[in-house]
Amino acid sequence: MKCRICSGNVRKFFDLGPQPISDAFLLPAARENEFLYRLQVGVCESCMMVQQAEEIPRQKMFHADYPYRSSGSALMRQHFEAVARRFLATELSGRDPFIVEIGSNDGVMLKTISEAGIRHLGVDPSGGAAEASAESGVRVQVDFFDETTAGTILARDGQADVIYSANTVSHISYLDSVFRGVDKLLAEDGVFVIEDRYLGDILEQTAFDQIYDEHFYLFSVRSVQALVQLHGLELSDIEHLPVHGGTIRYTISRPGRRVIGPEVGRLRASEPVDFSVFDDFARRAADIRDELVTLLTRLREEGRRVVGYGATAKSATILNYCGIGPDLIPYICDSTPGKQGRLTPGSHIPVLAPESFADPYPDYALLFAWNHAEEIMAKEQAFRQHGGQWIMYVPGVHIV
Ligand code: SAH
Ligand code: TYD
Ligand code: ZN
Repeated sequence: MKCRICSGNVRKFFDLGPQPISDAFLLPAARENEFLYRLQVGVCESCMMVQQAEEIPRQKMFHADYPYRSSGSALMRQHFEAVARRFLATELSGRDPFIVEIGSNDGVMLKTISEAGIRHLGVDPSGGAAEASAESGVRVQVDFFDETTAGTILARDGQADVIYSANTVSHISYLDSVFRGVDKLLAEDGVFVIEDRYLGDILEQTAFDQIYDEHFYLFSVRSVQALVQLHGLELSDIEHLPVHGGTIRYTISRPGRRVIGPEVGRLRASEPVDFSVFDDFARRAADIRDELVTLLTRLREEGRRVVGYGATAKSATILNYCGIGPDLIPYICDSTPGKQGRLTPGSHIPVLAPESFADPYPDYALLFAWNHAEEIMAKEQAFRQHGGQWIMYVPGVHIV
């Protein structure tokens, strides 16, 4: 297998078996003929980019009915408002600035930019999310960002001072085209800022549920630096952030334009170069699967009720890799309207509104949205007061 970034040799280290499209929540009648593919990941021996073996056609994942909405979490709303405020105070404080966001979803970040009256454009192929963002005054182009889209934007709107993208660039297998587009569109002194889940945290926490169709790449400082250099740009700064279980914000600019921050070299030096780290990770993931299935089976035998909380894309990996279905988890509660009344992909567990959680409370709740633990546990305090307990599986199976 050849690296999608640098054509180097990719060493496979984890086979997660047949998996569905992680955000393809099914109407009950559509459970036949579900699309499945084999989810396998490897690491490039040259650039160290972790990547999947198989590419899913992009329109199978991102389309008008794509259900994920970034604004579903108060924590993420605050996070993106802070991102926007920082840009407004820095990169966007000059004359007639322009910002483009790749993967703007429901406009959670651009809303603040729009309210400040700054020229902006969100690019996102998921029409439903784009409609929601237009309602909050965000200008959006329903499209996949690539070299062609970048050309259209450049001709119409001119160069961008900031190109921002959170939790999206890792979803795009065709990064060669994306980077050619960025190179066209970005102003000479502009910045391309990417936020994405950090491989270092995923390895450390054995958060193998971060591997699913949309996460085509798992980024590290080393691999992003290689990627950026290959396209004639420079990684000038990084910030390690706590959101989504561990994220890095990468600031990319044209060579020599910015001072390189000391964190780049520091974090890079801490990253694995020994492939045994990846094999150990896959072994620990298999152990977590065995422990989780044993626990759920025992609780069922003891007559305990366990339901799921948070029908995340990540949960598709857990449910399908572990073979967990409605016999062990009868339903999952989730606040996303586009997921409710549907079945989880592959595992076919009904998704219900959060109101069903208390009706009546189960004995245990398996928290699939573990990255939102604080927010969800605070919201669902009454569950614990009724004697309920949370089951977690990151960084290992435990009950809280
Ligand atoms: N930025 C938001 C959304 C992340 S979900 C956040 O961090 O919460 C990923 C989003 O990327 C989806 O809305 C999806 O439709 C969009 N996307 C996928 N491929 C894309 C591409 N090539 N160009 C632009 N957006 C894309
Ligand atoms: P998230 O972990 O952000 O992403 P992914 O799908 O990429 O794994 O998804 C969080 C899910 O949890 C989303 O479907 C909404 C749901 N959720 C709730 O049901 N209640 C809440 O209070 C929060 C914060 C999220
Ligand atoms: Zn490579």
